[in-house]
Amino acid sequence: MTTDDFFVLNNGIKMPCRGLGVFQNKNPETCEESILCAINRGYRMIDTAAVYGNEEAVGRAIKNCGVPRGQLFITTKLWYADCSRDMAKRALDRSLKKLGLDYVDLYLIHEPYGWIKSAWRGLEESVEEGKVRAIGVSNFGMAELKKLLVQANIAPAVDQIELHPYFQRAELVGFLQQNGILAEAWAPFAEGKRGIFTHPVLTDIAKKHGCTVAQLILAWLHARGIAVIPKSVRPERIAENFDFLGISPDEEDMRAVAALDGGESLFPWDKGWRRPMRKIMGFFHTGF
Ligand SMILES: NC(=O)c1ccc[n+]([C@@H]2O[C@H](COP(=O)([O-])OP(=O)(O)OC[C@H]3O[C@@H](n4cnc5c(N)ncnc54)[C@H](OP(=O)(O)O)[C@@H]3O)[C@@H](O)[C@H]2O)c1
Repeated sequence: MTTDDFFVLNNGIKMPCRGLGVFQNKNPETCEESILCAINRGYRMIDTAAVYGNEEAVGRAIKNCGVPRGQLFITTKLWYADCSRDMAKRALDRSLKKLGLDYVDLYLIHEPYGWIKSAWRGLEESVEEGKVRAIGVSNFGMAELKKLLVQANIAPAVDQIELHPYFQRAELVGFLQQNGILAEAWAPFAEGKRGIFTHPVLTDIAKKHGCTVAQLILAWLHARGIAVIPKSVRPERIAENFDFLGISPDEEDMRAVAALDGGESLFPWDKGWRRPMRKIMGFFHTGF
Protein backbone atom coordinates (compact mmCIF):
# COMPACT_ATOMS: atom_id res chain seq x y z
CA MET A 1 0.00 0.00 0.00
CA THR A 2 1.27 3.49 -0.74
CA THR A 3 0.40 7.10 -0.22
CA ASP A 4 2.61 9.67 -1.90
CA ASP A 5 5.19 9.99 0.86
CA PHE A 6 5.44 6.51 2.28
CA PHE A 7 4.75 2.85 1.79
CA VAL A 8 3.05 0.72 4.42
CA LEU A 9 5.10 -2.41 5.06
CA ASN A 10 3.54 -5.84 5.59
CA ASN A 11 3.81 -5.34 9.38
CA GLY A 12 1.91 -2.03 9.26
CA ILE A 13 4.98 0.18 9.66
CA LYS A 14 5.23 3.25 7.44
CA MET A 15 8.41 3.54 5.40
CA PRO A 16 9.27 6.74 3.49
CA CYS A 17 9.06 6.23 -0.27
CA ARG A 18 12.44 7.96 -0.76
CA GLY A 19 15.66 8.16 1.17
CA LEU A 20 19.34 8.93 0.88
CA GLY A 21 21.82 6.15 0.08
CA VAL A 22 25.33 6.44 1.49
CA PHE A 23 27.20 3.63 -0.28
CA GLN A 24 30.71 4.77 -1.33
CA ASN A 25 30.29 7.84 0.89
CA LYS A 26 33.18 6.86 3.12
CA ASN A 27 34.65 10.21 4.07
CA PRO A 28 33.07 10.80 7.50
CA GLU A 29 32.69 14.58 7.09
CA THR A 30 31.17 14.31 3.62
CA CYS A 31 28.87 11.53 4.76
CA GLU A 32 27.64 13.47 7.79
CA GLU A 33 27.23 16.68 5.76
CA SER A 34 25.26 14.98 2.99
CA ILE A 35 22.89 13.42 5.51
CA LEU A 36 22.39 16.72 7.36
CA CYS A 37 21.73 18.38 4.01
CA ALA A 38 19.22 15.67 3.06
CA ILE A 39 17.39 15.79 6.38
CA ASN A 40 17.26 19.55 6.15
CA ARG A 41 15.71 19.17 2.67
CA GLY A 42 13.02 16.84 4.01
CA TYR A 43 14.47 13.33 3.65
CA ARG A 44 13.60 11.10 6.60
CA MET A 45 15.11 7.78 5.45
CA ILE A 46 18.83 6.94 5.36
CA ASP A 47 20.20 3.71 3.88
CA THR A 48 23.54 2.44 5.16
CA ALA A 49 25.13 -0.99 5.80
CA ALA A 50 27.74 -2.43 8.14
CA VAL A 51 30.00 -3.03 5.15
CA TYR A 52 29.85 0.63 3.98
CA GLY A 53 32.08 1.59 6.92
CA ASN A 54 30.16 4.78 7.65
CA GLU A 55 27.68 3.87 10.39
CA GLU A 56 29.46 6.16 12.89
CA ALA A 57 29.15 9.13 10.53
CA VAL A 58 25.49 8.27 9.95
CA GLY A 59 25.03 8.12 13.73
CA ARG A 60 26.61 11.55 14.20
CA ALA A 61 24.32 13.04 11.57
CA ILE A 62 21.28 11.49 13.27
CA LYS A 63 22.40 12.92 16.60
CA ASN A 64 23.08 16.40 15.21
CA CYS A 65 20.20 16.79 12.75
CA GLY A 66 17.66 18.20 15.17
CA VAL A 67 14.87 15.91 13.93
CA PRO A 68 13.42 13.59 16.61
CA ARG A 69 14.55 9.97 16.24
CA GLY A 70 10.96 8.80 15.90
CA GLN A 71 10.55 10.79 12.68
CA LEU A 72 13.58 9.18 11.02
CA PHE A 73 13.72 5.81 9.26
CA ILE A 74 17.17 4.22 9.47
CA THR A 75 18.14 1.12 7.50
CA THR A 76 21.32 -0.88 7.92
CA LYS A 77 22.38 -4.29 6.68
CA LEU A 78 23.94 -7.52 7.89
CA TRP A 79 27.07 -8.52 5.95
CA TYR A 80 27.34 -12.13 4.78
CA ALA A 81 30.32 -12.86 7.03
CA ASP A 82 27.94 -12.49 10.01
CA CYS A 83 25.15 -14.56 8.50
CA SER A 84 24.05 -16.89 11.31
CA ARG A 85 21.71 -16.40 14.28
CA ASP A 86 24.29 -15.51 16.95
CA MET A 87 26.62 -13.62 14.64
CA ALA A 88 23.69 -11.63 13.24
CA LYS A 89 22.62 -10.57 16.72
CA ARG A 90 26.15 -9.53 17.62
CA ALA A 91 26.53 -7.69 14.29
CA LEU A 92 23.29 -5.81 14.93
CA ASP A 93 24.54 -4.77 18.38
CA ARG A 94 27.75 -3.50 16.76
CA SER A 95 25.78 -1.53 14.16
CA LEU A 96 23.50 -0.05 16.83
CA LYS A 97 26.51 1.00 18.87
CA LYS A 98 28.15 2.67 15.86
CA LEU A 99 24.90 4.38 14.92
CA GLY A 100 24.33 5.46 18.53
CA LEU A 101 20.81 4.03 18.38
CA ASP A 102 18.82 1.56 20.44
CA TYR A 103 16.87 0.37 17.39
CA VAL A 104 16.93 0.54 13.60
CA ASP A 105 13.78 0.80 11.53
CA LEU A 106 14.82 -1.75 8.92
CA TYR A 107 17.51 -4.43 9.07
CA LEU A 108 18.32 -6.31 5.87
CA ILE A 109 20.33 -9.43 5.12
CA HIS A 110 22.66 -7.79 2.61
CA GLU A 111 23.32 -10.72 0.26
CA PRO A 112 21.94 -14.24 -0.06
CA TYR A 113 25.04 -15.98 1.28
CA GLY A 114 25.66 -17.73 4.58
CA TRP A 115 23.27 -19.50 6.96
CA ILE A 116 20.20 -17.55 5.90
CA LYS A 117 17.69 -19.60 7.88
CA SER A 118 19.71 -19.24 11.06
CA ALA A 119 20.41 -15.54 10.48
CA TRP A 120 16.72 -14.91 9.84
CA ARG A 121 15.91 -16.40 13.29
CA GLY A 122 18.40 -13.91 14.72
CA LEU A 123 16.62 -11.06 12.95
CA GLU A 124 13.22 -12.30 14.13
CA GLU A 125 14.49 -12.42 17.71
CA SER A 126 15.86 -8.89 17.31
CA VAL A 127 12.35 -7.72 16.37
CA GLU A 128 11.00 -9.37 19.53
CA GLU A 129 13.75 -7.66 21.55
CA GLY A 130 12.74 -4.25 20.15
CA LYS A 131 16.05 -3.65 18.38
CA VAL A 132 14.52 -3.64 14.89
CA ARG A 133 11.08 -2.50 13.67
CA ALA A 134 11.09 -4.35 10.33
CA ILE A 135 13.31 -6.98 8.73
CA GLY A 136 14.02 -7.78 5.13
CA VAL A 137 16.56 -8.87 2.59
CA SER A 138 18.64 -7.47 -0.22
CA ASN A 139 19.75 -9.00 -3.51
CA PHE A 140 17.43 -11.99 -3.04
CA GLY A 141 15.92 -13.52 -6.17
CA MET A 142 12.71 -15.50 -6.37
CA ALA A 143 14.24 -18.87 -5.51
CA GLU A 144 15.89 -17.55 -2.36
CA LEU A 145 12.74 -15.70 -1.31
CA LYS A 146 10.56 -18.75 -1.79
CA LYS A 147 12.81 -20.75 0.55
CA LEU A 148 12.81 -17.98 3.12
CA LEU A 149 9.03 -17.49 2.97
CA VAL A 150 8.47 -21.16 3.79
CA GLN A 151 10.76 -21.04 6.82
CA ALA A 152 10.09 -17.56 8.20
CA ASN A 153 7.87 -16.74 11.16
CA ILE A 154 8.07 -13.11 10.11
CA ALA A 155 7.88 -12.60 6.34
CA PRO A 156 10.49 -10.23 4.88
CA ALA A 157 9.08 -6.71 4.56
CA VAL A 158 11.49 -5.46 1.89
CA ASP A 159 13.80 -6.77 -0.84
CA GLN A 160 16.37 -4.13 -1.78
CA ILE A 161 17.55 -4.92 -5.30
CA GLU A 162 19.33 -3.41 -8.27
CA LEU A 163 16.62 -1.64 -10.28
CA HIS A 164 16.93 1.08 -12.94
CA PRO A 165 15.76 1.65 -16.53
CA TYR A 166 18.44 -0.71 -17.88
CA PHE A 167 17.50 -3.55 -15.49
CA GLN A 168 13.79 -3.49 -14.69
CA ARG A 169 13.12 -6.98 -13.31
CA ALA A 170 9.37 -7.00 -13.94
CA GLU A 171 8.97 -10.66 -12.93
CA LEU A 172 10.78 -10.28 -9.60
CA VAL A 173 9.00 -7.00 -8.81
CA GLY A 174 5.67 -8.71 -9.59
CA PHE A 175 6.56 -11.63 -7.32
CA LEU A 176 7.48 -9.23 -4.51
CA GLN A 177 4.22 -7.34 -4.88
CA GLN A 178 2.16 -10.53 -4.92
CA ASN A 179 3.85 -11.59 -1.69
CA GLY A 180 3.49 -8.26 0.13
CA ILE A 181 7.23 -7.53 0.02
CA LEU A 182 8.19 -3.96 -0.86
CA ALA A 183 10.73 -3.62 -3.66
CA GLU A 184 13.39 -1.00 -2.95
CA ALA A 185 15.69 0.12 -5.78
CA TRP A 186 19.41 0.34 -5.28
CA ALA A 187 21.44 2.15 -7.94
CA PRO A 188 18.27 3.77 -9.33
CA PHE A 189 20.57 5.76 -11.66
CA ALA A 190 22.73 2.72 -12.47
CA GLU A 191 25.45 4.81 -10.81
CA GLY A 192 25.45 6.92 -13.98
CA LYS A 193 26.53 4.02 -16.20
CA ARG A 194 25.78 3.88 -19.94
CA GLY A 195 25.12 7.61 -20.15
CA ILE A 196 21.85 7.24 -18.29
CA PHE A 197 21.53 10.95 -17.51
CA THR A 198 21.79 11.87 -21.21
CA HIS A 199 19.87 8.96 -22.74
CA PRO A 200 17.73 10.51 -25.53
CA VAL A 201 14.53 8.64 -24.59
CA LEU A 202 14.81 9.64 -20.94
CA THR A 203 15.83 13.19 -21.85
CA ASP A 204 12.79 13.60 -24.12
CA ILE A 205 10.34 12.33 -21.51
CA ALA A 206 11.97 14.46 -18.82
CA LYS A 207 11.68 17.52 -21.07
CA LYS A 208 7.99 16.78 -21.59
CA HIS A 209 7.44 16.81 -17.82
CA GLY A 210 9.74 19.78 -17.19
CA CYS A 211 11.99 17.74 -14.92
CA THR A 212 15.49 16.29 -14.95
CA VAL A 213 16.32 12.74 -16.05
CA ALA A 214 17.16 11.85 -12.44
CA GLN A 215 13.71 13.01 -11.30
CA LEU A 216 12.03 11.17 -14.16
CA ILE A 217 13.76 7.89 -13.21
CA LEU A 218 12.72 8.25 -9.57
CA ALA A 219 9.14 9.12 -10.60
CA TRP A 220 9.06 6.11 -12.92
CA LEU A 221 10.20 3.79 -10.09
CA HIS A 222 7.66 5.37 -7.73
CA ALA A 223 4.91 4.79 -10.31
CA ARG A 224 5.87 1.07 -10.22
CA GLY A 225 5.41 1.02 -6.42
CA ILE A 226 9.14 0.89 -5.70
CA ALA A 227 10.99 2.73 -2.91
CA VAL A 228 14.15 4.64 -3.90
CA ILE A 229 17.41 5.53 -2.14
CA PRO A 230 19.49 7.60 -4.60
CA LYS A 231 22.97 8.54 -3.43
CA SER A 232 24.49 11.98 -3.81
CA VAL A 233 26.94 14.11 -1.88
CA ARG A 234 25.98 17.32 -3.71
CA PRO A 235 23.37 19.58 -2.10
CA GLU A 236 21.76 20.56 -5.42
CA ARG A 237 21.38 16.92 -6.46
CA ILE A 238 20.18 15.87 -3.01
CA ALA A 239 17.42 18.48 -3.40
CA GLU A 240 16.70 17.46 -7.02
CA ASN A 241 16.41 13.78 -6.09
CA PHE A 242 13.85 14.59 -3.40
CA ASP A 243 11.51 16.56 -5.64
CA PHE A 244 9.88 14.05 -7.95
CA LEU A 245 6.54 13.20 -6.38
CA GLY A 246 4.53 15.59 -8.55
CA ILE A 247 5.81 13.97 -11.77
CA SER A 248 3.42 11.40 -13.27
CA PRO A 249 4.75 9.46 -16.25
CA ASP A 250 1.85 8.50 -18.52
CA GLU A 251 1.30 5.13 -20.21
CA GLU A 252 3.27 6.15 -23.28
CA ASP A 253 6.21 7.22 -21.06
CA MET A 254 6.04 3.95 -19.12
CA ARG A 255 6.12 1.97 -22.37
CA ALA A 256 9.07 4.00 -23.69
CA VAL A 257 11.08 3.46 -20.49
CA ALA A 258 10.11 -0.23 -20.42
CA ALA A 259 11.73 -0.60 -23.86
CA LEU A 260 15.13 0.39 -22.37
CA ASP A 261 15.29 -2.76 -20.26
CA GLY A 262 18.42 -4.75 -21.10
CA GLY A 263 17.36 -7.62 -18.82
CA GLU A 264 20.82 -7.86 -17.29
CA SER A 265 22.51 -6.54 -14.21
CA LEU A 266 25.08 -3.80 -14.70
CA PHE A 267 26.66 -4.98 -11.43
CA PRO A 268 26.73 -8.75 -12.00
CA TRP A 269 26.99 -10.92 -8.94
CA ASP A 270 28.72 -13.76 -10.74
CA LYS A 271 31.60 -11.85 -12.24
CA GLY A 272 34.97 -10.65 -10.97
CA TRP A 273 35.68 -10.90 -7.27
CA ARG A 274 32.18 -12.10 -6.51
CA ARG A 275 32.65 -15.38 -8.34
CA PRO A 276 35.06 -17.05 -5.87
CA MET A 277 33.13 -15.61 -2.95
CA ARG A 278 29.86 -17.01 -4.24
CA LYS A 279 31.47 -20.41 -4.76
CA ILE A 280 32.78 -20.54 -1.21
CA MET A 281 29.65 -19.17 0.39
CA GLY A 282 27.47 -21.31 -1.86
CA PHE A 283 28.51 -24.22 0.33
CA PHE A 284 26.50 -22.73 3.14
CA HIS A 285 23.35 -22.65 1.04
CA THR A 286 22.91 -26.25 2.09
CA GLY A 287 22.19 -24.91 5.56
CA PHE A 288 19.41 -22.58 4.31
N1 LIG B 1 21.91 -3.58 -1.17
C1 LIG B 1 22.92 -3.46 -2.00
O1 LIG B 1 23.62 -4.44 -2.36
C2 LIG B 1 23.25 -2.10 -2.55
C3 LIG B 1 24.17 -1.97 -3.60
C4 LIG B 1 24.43 -0.69 -4.08
C5 LIG B 1 23.79 0.40 -3.52
N2 LIG B 1 22.91 0.25 -2.47
C6 LIG B 1 22.22 1.41 -1.85
O2 LIG B 1 21.57 2.17 -2.87
C7 LIG B 1 22.05 3.52 -2.84
C8 LIG B 1 22.03 4.12 -4.24
O3 LIG B 1 22.80 3.37 -5.14
P1 LIG B 1 24.24 3.83 -5.67
O4 LIG B 1 24.83 4.79 -4.71
O5 LIG B 1 25.00 2.61 -5.96
O6 LIG B 1 23.97 4.50 -7.09
P2 LIG B 1 22.95 5.60 -7.70
O7 LIG B 1 22.13 6.23 -6.63
O8 LIG B 1 22.31 4.96 -8.87
O9 LIG B 1 23.98 6.66 -8.31
C9 LIG B 1 24.81 7.46 -7.55
C10 LIG B 1 25.68 8.25 -8.52
O10 LIG B 1 24.89 9.16 -9.29
C11 LIG B 1 25.31 10.51 -9.06
N3 LIG B 1 24.10 11.32 -8.95
C12 LIG B 1 23.21 11.33 -7.93
N4 LIG B 1 22.18 12.14 -8.18
C13 LIG B 1 22.42 12.68 -9.41
C14 LIG B 1 21.71 13.61 -10.21
N5 LIG B 1 20.56 14.13 -9.81
N6 LIG B 1 22.25 13.94 -11.42
C15 LIG B 1 23.43 13.41 -11.84
N7 LIG B 1 24.16 12.52 -11.10
C16 LIG B 1 23.64 12.16 -9.89
C17 LIG B 1 26.13 10.47 -7.79
O11 LIG B 1 27.19 11.42 -7.80
P3 LIG B 1 27.34 12.54 -6.63
O12 LIG B 1 27.36 11.83 -5.30
O13 LIG B 1 28.65 13.20 -6.98
O14 LIG B 1 26.17 13.45 -6.78
C18 LIG B 1 26.73 9.05 -7.83
O15 LIG B 1 27.88 9.05 -8.63
C19 LIG B 1 23.45 3.37 -2.24
O16 LIG B 1 24.01 4.58 -1.80
C20 LIG B 1 23.19 2.36 -1.15
O17 LIG B 1 22.60 2.98 -0.02
C21 LIG B 1 22.65 -0.99 -2.00
